[in-house]
Amino acid sequence: MRISVAPKPVHCRCPVPSKWRAEVERVLLTDAQIARRVQTIAREIERDYHGREMVVVALLNGTVLFLADLIRHLSLPLRLDFMGVSSYGSGTTSGELVFTKELQLDVCRRDVLLVDDILDTGTTLSRVLPKLRALQPRRIKVCVLLDKPARRVAKVAADYVGFEIPDVFVVGYGLDYAEKYRNLPFVGVLKPAMYKL
Ligand code: IMP
Ligand code: MG
Repeated sequence: MRISVAPKPVHCRCPVPSKWRAEVERVLLTDAQIARRVQTIAREIERDYHGREMVVVALLNGTVLFLADLIRHLSLPLRLDFMGVSSYGSGTTSGELVFTKELQLDVCRRDVLLVDDILDTGTTLSRVLPKLRALQPRRIKVCVLLDKPARRVAKVAADYVGFEIPDVFVVGYGLDYAEKYRNLPFVGVLKPAMYKL
């Protein structure tokens, strides 16, 4: 069950930093907005887990920034592992899903927190969740930074959602287009010209 309602980004007047102005149309979420929300989610997770040990399973590569910020606010005993999932689609659409790294830790009878960057069509999580469930964890909760409910195809929902966003292609704070823009400290809307070349 979702613990709190994910806020929708309010219209952000923050200008795109000049270095990114040619490629990014507008800032959707500032680094300050993200930082506040990540802290709130961490508090919700802490409350829900009551100090129980958990295994955090993060999907590579989009979660790196979100994950680093989230877990430093979790005062719980936790172990961290990664699954590599790559979608060999072209442009902004998902293609065939390929697992590029398997889990190393044993999650049998453990509490798992699965972390992803964005829940879009739901295809990724609908492939990853059965794979994790087959390892017989005690329970799995799903935490995503962003949720684009308008694009959902697979029946999958997250327990913790940072922000609910409209149907726009975003980059930054870990999210990429063709492996670029992950290092932006904010989440911005990519100019369509960048992927309609
Ligand atoms: P899904 O399988 O359609 O739910 O999409 C999940 C994956 O698609 C994410 O982990 C991202 O890698 C990618 N993705 C979906 N929407 C966006 C976006 O707006 N920007 C960057 N990546 C996205
Ligand atoms: Mg991804």
